[in-house]
Amino acid sequence: TTVWVPQDSSARAVGADEVAAALAAVDGVTVRRNGTRGMLWREPLVEVETDRGRVGYAGVTAEAVPSLLEAGLLDGSEHESCIGVVDEDPWLTAQDRVSLARIGLAEPTDIHAYEAQGGWAGLRRALELDPADVVEEVVASGLRGRGGAGFPTGIKWRTVLQAEAEQKFVACNLDEGDSGTFADRILAEADPFTLLEGMTIAAVTLGATEGYIYCRSEYPDAISRLRDAIAVAAEHGYLGDDVAGSGRSFRLQVRVGAGAYICGEETSMLESLEGRRGEVRAKPPIPALRGLWGSPTVVNNLLSFAAIPMILADGGEAYAARGVGRSRGTQIFQLAGNIARGGVYEAPLGVSLRELVEDVGGGTRSGRPVRAVQVGGPLGAYLPADRLDVPMGYEELAEAGGMLGHGGLVVFDDTVDMARMARFAMEFCAVESCGKCTPCRIGSTRGVETIDRITSTPAGTEGRDQLFVLLEDLCATMTTGSLCAMGGLTPVPVRSALTHFPEDFGGSPR
Ligand code: NAI
Ligand code: SF4
Repeated sequence: TTVWVPQDSSARAVGADEVAAALAAVDGVTVRRNGTRGMLWREPLVEVETDRGRVGYAGVTAEAVPSLLEAGLLDGSEHESCIGVVDEDPWLTAQDRVSLARIGLAEPTDIHAYEAQGGWAGLRRALELDPADVVEEVVASGLRGRGGAGFPTGIKWRTVLQAEAEQKFVACNLDEGDSGTFADRILAEADPFTLLEGMTIAAVTLGATEGYIYCRSEYPDAISRLRDAIAVAAEHGYLGDDVAGSGRSFRLQVRVGAGAYICGEETSMLESLEGRRGEVRAKPPIPALRGLWGSPTVVNNLLSFAAIPMILADGGEAYAARGVGRSRGTQIFQLAGNIARGGVYEAPLGVSLRELVEDVGGGTRSGRPVRAVQVGGPLGAYLPADRLDVPMGYEELAEAGGMLGHGGLVVFDDTVDMARMARFAMEFCAVESCGKCTPCRIGSTRGVETIDRITSTPAGTEGRDQLFVLLEDLCATMTTGSLCAMGGLTPVPVRSALTHFPEDFGGSPR
């Protein structure tokens, strides 16, 4: 009997390796290691191959293996931990998996499985087309930068294509520093070839012969998986001097960050790749024109590259057919924080925050009412429970005072202290600031102090109101005077906490 046990780091964190070892010791069992299916609350999710398909058992522990075997696990029998045939699970079938289509199906570096599941079709099509037509396909897809800023990917590619230079580069941002986000990691660990294919399409289209994946050091499994995948792809002729028989050359390597959030900002990332301290560069010039070592460089987030193979294989229009308003295609939402069913959920943009939190996520894990949801990472707004009907699109969220960012959702129940969360935003900025500009470097520290003074001064004390004015002043200075999004967006969570949850600040004058 073949049994699949995920080797994703979130499954390993809850004992998947021990489960795999316990199963491997059983006579007649072959253990294979897939990536996660993205249903993280069910990890370790063990899947047994049966005539009906792969039958899943959720939350398996090494200690439970003997009793599960006794109860008929190897025949795919019913058991309280049995979730039925995994491919038919409603949580999966309700999704529109484009970039995540292949996660969890096979061993992540099994290139034959990747090919059998439609892999490399996008690259083959890209090689048949003129570079300008490939770029227009990406423009037609409406894909916008999934790192968070939402800049149209096709336009960025067009800028790089039209730039005249001897040397161009492709760089993937896999620094994923946002709290509550983990889609990049899951895709890199579970289906690295999709990223490699997306980057290779960019390279052969834009004339780049070298590429870098900048991965955070906190993701050791992703780093080794990607390095293995690069070696396998090169062995099979998808990377190297003659990409898929096209005569074009593309070499790719993984570079590891050193733990700075700011290195997820693209120009700091480029500094770090060049071997310097990760400090933000002033823009312009934009990296598309002058990036790595001064050469035109397409910098995209992993999720943007991961959408490219399908866009080329099925056409830009098929991707653009999904979505809402100017937000086309799908987004991989990451459900985290106090949520019953955490994991990665790919759906067309436009799905409401309420659907994601309540229907998909099953509400809070604590069972208490939802009080706030932070969307878009530590720089995103805290949306109160009465704003959950907002459609998840770039403009739609902006109108509701939020931002989509990298698609992370962190849910809080009614026990959260929003003044502490506001303080945390300022503190996070103080810790992670690269120090290049004053509003961010000094402002964030003054922000922590001011919030502390507010919360430690009893309501009604003379001069207390002035502290709120001071905090607002500080927020305005940081917003307008910071060089990058770190200092510029830190006031967003702070102001949203003040606006929607004034009672947590001991009663604000607003
Ligand atoms: P940005 O708006 O300055 O740039 C977005 C992208 O478009 C960049 O790659 C930029 O080089 C490119 N671009 C801009 N104008 C262009 C043009 N005319 N032609 C070609 N390319 C052009 O935003 P930035 O500062 O890069 O990102 C800020 C966002 O990052 C925030 O909104 C936030 O959502 C997100 N973020 C994501 C994090 C994560 O972990 N994924 C962490 C922190 C922030
Ligand atoms: Fe550095 Fe902060 Fe200024 Fe960004 S806003 S450049 S992180 S000091």
